[in-house]
Amino acid sequence: MELASLAVRSIIFILPSYFANSVPVVLGGGVPIDGGRKMGDGRRILGSGKTLRGFFAGVLAAVFIGAAEALVLPGTEFDIYGGSALSYLACGALLGVGTMVGDLVGSFIKRRQGIAQGKPSFLLDQLTFLAFAILFAYPIAWHLLSPQSVLFLAVLTYFVHAGANIVAHRFGLKKVPW
Ligand code: CTP
Ligand code: MG
Repeated sequence: MELASLAVRSIIFILPSYFANSVPVVLGGGVPIDGGRKMGDGRRILGSGKTLRGFFAGVLAAVFIGAAEALVLPGTEFDIYGGSALSYLACGALLGVGTMVGDLVGSFIKRRQGIAQGKPSFLLDQLTFLAFAILFAYPIAWHLLSPQSVLFLAVLTYFVHAGANIVAHRFGLKKVPW
């Protein structure tokens, strides 16, 4: 497939996940999922940065983007699910849950490595959520997920994540630029 087309279709596919990953920065907060509990290593299971509100805000954001795509894309050249509105919605939901679960897994690993909440971790911060999003969405979006497409998404996500965090920091949404 032509590179431009692969890029556009991959971006349309992953958009719900990007929203799921960023909306909790604004709408998250409140009760942490781990309830403040620690593991045997004396460190928090997940940390205060992973909240129930953030989790559900992320999932809902992804469903919302999936619904928006379902309204706009069928019948256009950017229709990635053969006109099926249900596929857009289902993939939005799967990407949302996968993204937020992957985000928890990333934080769990960071805590086990002794990385404090909010401190950056090269690759874990960017690629755990992406890996889980892709795995969860695979049953519906397998036809979009060629090795080239997954590689493109990994590179793109790395730079989008870094860029988005710098912008969020400038606008005062995040205390740190990562
Ligand atoms: N957030 C949330 N609930 C989630 C995920 C994120 O409330 N499930 C909010 C928190 O306010 C969090 C912010 O979004 O601080 C940024 O998310 P992220 O960078 O993923 O978390 P960190 O605070 O950096 O924590 P960690 O070190 O565990 O990644
Ligand atoms: Mg962070």
